[in-house]
Amino acid sequence: MAECRFAEKHSQMTKLQARVIVLLLAAILLALVAMQFGQRSAGPAPTQPIASNDGREPVQLDPQQLDYSLAQMRGLLAGLNEYDRAIGNSALAALADLAARHGPGAGKTAPAGLHDAQPANFRALSATMRQAFATMEKAARAGDLAGVRSARETAGNACVACHESYRFEPKPVG
Ligand code: HEC
Repeated sequence: MAECRFAEKHSQMTKLQARVIVLLLAAILLALVAMQFGQRSAGPAPTQPIASNDGREPVQLDPQQLDYSLAQMRGLLAGLNEYDRAIGNSALAALADLAARHGPGAGKTAPAGLHDAQPANFRALSATMRQAFATMEKAARAGDLAGVRSARETAGNACVACHESYRFEPKPVG
């Protein structure tokens, strides 16, 4: 009988302990979820660059430089589409005018400090691409479709090479 009561008491304590453990685990889980949710809703601080370990070299730009550079990029991509269409249609006159817009003079409206923010090799790749567009314009004006195609390839390779080597990131403030 005494043994029986002891066993009962013992098993009651075990149940209590189990409840405490379950409650503790639930509390920890809730805290973790809350932390995760808090982080997600707050997001990264705007001045903090988004870290990346993909091996590309970061090019730090202020907001104006970043907007300008990305807008240029989108223009280049739209341009490639138009080039390919024009090449397909052998529309060389239109292609020459388009290539003139992407030639070496294209960076004249760049915001202050952009040139200095770009690493030398970044600028070299950019110059290679601009030069390819100048070559494309010349070939198009001369009616040289093979020359246009070859310059298109050189320009495309410069896009790829630069994208493999560099990424933009917001310049830390202060
Ligand atoms: C000298 C370097 C360089 C060259 C040349 C270059 N890009 Fe980029 N481009 C970049 C970098 C750096 C980014 C930002 C990538 C990142 O942060 O992950 C970018 C981003 C872009 C984007 C994304 C734009 C946005 O709004 O998010 C497009 C589209 C793009 N490039 C197209 C092109 C095309 C098409 C060409 C060639 C005709 C080209 N780029 C040539 C460096 C270059």
